[in-house]
Amino acid sequence: MPDEPLVLGIETSCDETGVGIVRGHTLLADALASSVEQHARFGGVVPEVASRAHLEAIVPTMTRALDEAGVTLADIDAIAVTAGPGLAGALLVGVAAAKGYALAADKPIYGVNHLAAHVAVDTLEHGPLPEPAIAMLVSGGHSSLLLVDDLAHGVTPLGATIDDAAGEAFDKVARLLGLGFPGGPIIDRSARAGDPASIVFPRGLTAAKDQAAHRFDFSFSGLKTAVARWVEARERAGEPVPVSDVSASFQEAVCDVLTAKAIDACLSHGVSTLVIGGGVAANSRLRVLAEQRAAKHHIRVRVPRPGLCTDNGAMVAALGSHLVAAGVRVPGCRVSPHEVKRAPGGESWPPPRRRSPASPPRWPGTPRSPWP
Ligand code: KG4
Ligand code: ZN
Repeated sequence: MPDEPLVLGIETSCDETGVGIVRGHTLLADALASSVEQHARFGGVVPEVASRAHLEAIVPTMTRALDEAGVTLADIDAIAVTAGPGLAGALLVGVAAAKGYALAADKPIYGVNHLAAHVAVDTLEHGPLPEPAIAMLVSGGHSSLLLVDDLAHGVTPLGATIDDAAGEAFDKVARLLGLGFPGGPIIDRSARAGDPASIVFPRGLTAAKDQAAHRFDFSFSGLKTAVARWVEARERAGEPVPVSDVSASFQEAVCDVLTAKAIDACLSHGVSTLVIGGGVAANSRLRVLAEQRAAKHHIRVRVPRPGLCTDNGAMVAALGSHLVAAGVRVPGCRVSPHEVKRAPGGESWPPPRRRSPASPPRWPGTPRSPWP
């Protein structure tokens, strides 16, 4: 609908430079440039390489997004940009670009939380999100369970990984199996030819003793080590490593824990909608297992298509559009020449914080936690 807000979103928190444009819940453009190939030989994202790649990609990606949507910067009602969490140098490129464009075109600017944006992107495919909902965000940088009671005003973290993120575990296991980077899609494919029950790998933080302190937290570092030890033992014995069986068994351990905890979070909070986002949400086994387990409890699972699960600009635009529609105003976020002058010291970005130990500062659409 033409009277819905036209919002442009910029994402640069990790290795994808994304610029998305939405009108309300309608996706008009989703331009993406990835530096993933530049990181492949290191087996993980190198922050400085990512920052430089963002710097080179941001303007062309912006131009592509505007062309794809058939709009100009002047048509845009608001600019949203990922303000955290993420790699500091990478975030800086997106934030600086957003401020520059906002200043040039005199547009309001929303600094949004990356995790909340992963949740919001689902609205582009499946419409408004029933609230409350439980969101599980699983990517290379984070594994979190969130209670989404009001996306416009914040989300409540229930738990997160205490060591490796789920995608990081996929990447590290793929590396030790010599499969390449990023590991998730490769393990997903390799697992199709394997037996998920052939090796029983540990399920982190699922023991009865962990329930009190870590009911909704994850741990994948022990699993990764268990895979490494298992592979080493085979190699020491001079036996071939059954790569597909290891992939399938490892993937099963990750998906078992993720889905069990997500369903538990839904049941314990009386919530009947589960949204899954982040790169690992593209995993074929995770999607099937989540559906199967949720159906038993009449819980609806919403997962965006794989291209929207991984980092992109559309998710940031989607959250920005939600904030604009909800009438959220961001004091101090409107970029003025005065603010830009003070910007190098970071005084105006993030906007002035109201520090109080009892209530940590919150971005609109950000979790109620001390996250950036
Ligand atoms: O959300 P994302 O693009 O970037 C971060 O915010 O990290 O997620 C990237 C992560 C990588 O670790 C990648 O291996 C994983 O998502 N991933 C997958 C699959 N596709 C991507 N993991 C498991 N199965 C997949 N099919
Ligand atoms: Zn992400």
